[in-house]
Amino acid sequence: MCGIVGYIGYREAFPILINGLKRLEYRGYDSAGIAMLNDDFTIYKKKGKVADLENFINGAELHGSLGMGHTRWATHGAPNDINSHPHQSASNSFVIIHNGIIENYAILKKELLEKGYTFKSDTDTEVLIQLIEDIYNQDDIPAEEAVRKALKRVIGAFGIVVLCKPENGKMIVARRSSPIAIGIGEGEYIVASDATPIIEYTKDVIYLNDDEIAILTTDSHRIINIKNEEIESPFIERVEMEVEALEKGGYEHFMLKEIFEQPTSIADSMRGRIDPQTNTVWLGGLVDVRDQLERARRFIIVACGTSWHAGLVAEYLFEEYARIPVEVEYASEFRYRNPIIKKDDVIIAISQSGETADTLAAIKIAKQEGALVLGVCNVVGSSIARETHAGVYTHAGPEIGVASTKAFTAQVTALTLMAIYVSELKDSVIRHKAREVTDGLLQIPSKVRKIISQNEKIIEIASLFKDASNFLYLGRGYHFPVALEGALKLKEISYIHAEGYPAAEMKHGPIALIDENMPVVFIATQDESYEKVVSNIEEVVARKGRVIAVVTEGDQTIPDLAEFVIEIPQAAPALQPLLSVIPLQLLSYHIAVMRGCNVDQPRNLAKSVTVE
Ligand code: G6P
Repeated sequence: MCGIVGYIGYREAFPILINGLKRLEYRGYDSAGIAMLNDDFTIYKKKGKVADLENFINGAELHGSLGMGHTRWATHGAPNDINSHPHQSASNSFVIIHNGIIENYAILKKELLEKGYTFKSDTDTEVLIQLIEDIYNQDDIPAEEAVRKALKRVIGAFGIVVLCKPENGKMIVARRSSPIAIGIGEGEYIVASDATPIIEYTKDVIYLNDDEIAILTTDSHRIINIKNEEIESPFIERVEMEVEALEKGGYEHFMLKEIFEQPTSIADSMRGRIDPQTNTVWLGGLVDVRDQLERARRFIIVACGTSWHAGLVAEYLFEEYARIPVEVEYASEFRYRNPIIKKDDVIIAISQSGETADTLAAIKIAKQEGALVLGVCNVVGSSIARETHAGVYTHAGPEIGVASTKAFTAQVTALTLMAIYVSELKDSVIRHKAREVTDGLLQIPSKVRKIISQNEKIIEIASLFKDASNFLYLGRGYHFPVALEGALKLKEISYIHAEGYPAAEMKHGPIALIDENMPVVFIATQDESYEKVVSNIEEVVARKGRVIAVVTEGDQTIPDLAEFVIEIPQAAPALQPLLSVIPLQLLSYHIAVMRGCNVDQPRNLAKSVTVE
C-alpha cells in the first residue's frame, strides 16, 4: 500500500510533496515522512497522518528542489516514528521511500548483518537501501546501476524513489507490482503512486511498467529495465483529470460527496455506450475481443471487497441476459487454489483502483493459462487496466473515501452494459428484455437523485440506530449482493458488526440472533420474491427485531410491518441494485459520523491494497 511522491526540478519541493501526500493519504496513513536533499539530507518523519507530520515540522524551513515524501500503511514493523519512511543507508549516502513488500528481506538482512550492517528499523525497506549502498560501495558504478543490481536480488513488490547524496541532482525510481506515475514537466518531474499529485503541474505522464527503472534529472529522463535494456521512447499518456474533482467540493467528507455524485458518475459510466437510435450497447474497449467473447463458455469474475460484490451482481446479470455460466471468486482465494481455467473462459477482473495485489495476481495466472482477461477498472492507466487484454473503464472519477460508493455503482453500470453487449453478441437475449435494461439504465441517474433527496429521513433513522452493536442485512436475488455491500459499508466505517445474508437463509442461522436489540435491514422491493421477503419480515417482527426496509415507492404492505421504510423508485430487477444500495450507503455514512468515526479514513483500512 503506501503512497509515495518525489520531486526534482526548479520549484520549492516541500509544498508539492506535502500536497501530494495529502492526495495519496487514501493509500495508508500510519505514518508520513519527507526527505529533502541539498548538501545533505534533511529528514522529518512521524507516526500518524500527514497533518501530524506538518505539526511535527512546525514551520521549519525546508527549502530545496529535490525531495521525496511517503505516507505509510504498515506491513513490516509497527507504525512508529522509526519505521516511518524515508529510510537512510548506513553511511547516509542513500535515502529511499518504498511502497510494497520485499518478501526475501530476511535472507538479505541476514547477509548484511553478517557484513556488519546495523539496522535502525524493523522494515524490509531499510534492508533494500542498505543492500543498494553495499553494492554501490563494492563496485565503481553509478547509483542507478547499484539500484538495478539490488532489485535483481529482490523478490516481492516495490515502487521506490531513491536519492544518492554523492550523485546529487538525480532521482532513481523503479517499480514492480506497485504503481509509479512520472509526470513530465518543463525542467521538472513529479513522481507519485498515482497521477493525483501530478496533474496540477503537468498532464503528461509515463506509467512505469514492472521491472523498469527511471533515472531523472531536472531536464532528462531515461528508462531502463532490470535487464539493463534501454526503453526507447516510453509511452507518454495524457491524463485528463481536473484538480477540482479531487477536492471535497463543500461536503464534510469525500464519502458524502461521492455518494451525492452518483447521478453524475452513473451517467458518466454509460455515456456514449448506448445507441439511442437502436438501443444497442457499444463498448469500444471490447471490440477487438468480440470473437472471443462470442465463443466464451464461461465467465470467471475475480475481485476483492466491494468490487467482489459488484461481481456478484454481474453473476446474476450475465446469467440472466447472456445465458452464460459465471463464477465469482475472491481473487485472494482464486490465485492460490490451482484453479481450472480453460482457453475459452473469459476472466473479468473488477477493481476500482486497478492496483489490488490479489486481483493482479489472479489476472497473471489466468493469462498464463491462455484465457482472455478483461478489466473493469476505475483508475485509467492503472496496473490492472494495463495488464488485461481488453476492458471497460467505469469512469466514476477519482474516489477518495476509503469506503467505496460511487465506484460500486459505476462498476455495476459498466457490468450491466457488458452483460447486454455479450448477450447481443451471442444473440441470447430477447430484444425487448435488453431494451428494458438499456432504457431503464438511462433513467437511473434521476432515480438516484430522488433517493438522495431522502437524506434527512435517513439521518433520522441513523440517529435511532447509531448505538446498535450488530446489524443484519437481508435481500434476495439481485439484492443479495446489495445486502452484503450494505453490511460491509457499515462495518468498514462505523465499526459496528454487520452481516449480510440471502433473506431466505435467515432461517438457517441468523434468525437465532434476532431480539428486540437487533436492527434488520431488508431490501424488499416489488419483484418476483417480494411475497417471500415479506414473510421473512413478518418472521423478524414476530421475534421483536427492529426492521428498516428499503421498499418500492407506493408499497402498501411493508409500512405496516416495518419500523421504518425508505422508498426507492420502480426499476427492472436487474437495475435495482443501483438504487437499493444508495440508502444503505447513506445510512452507514450517517451512523459513522454520529459515532465520531473517521469516515474517509477508517482505522486499519486503505483504499488501495497493493499487498496480499
Ligand atoms: C479495499 C478498499 C475497498 C475495495 C477493495 C478492493 O479493501 O477499502 O473499498 O473494495 O480494497 O479494491 P479495488 O480497488 O480492487 O476495487
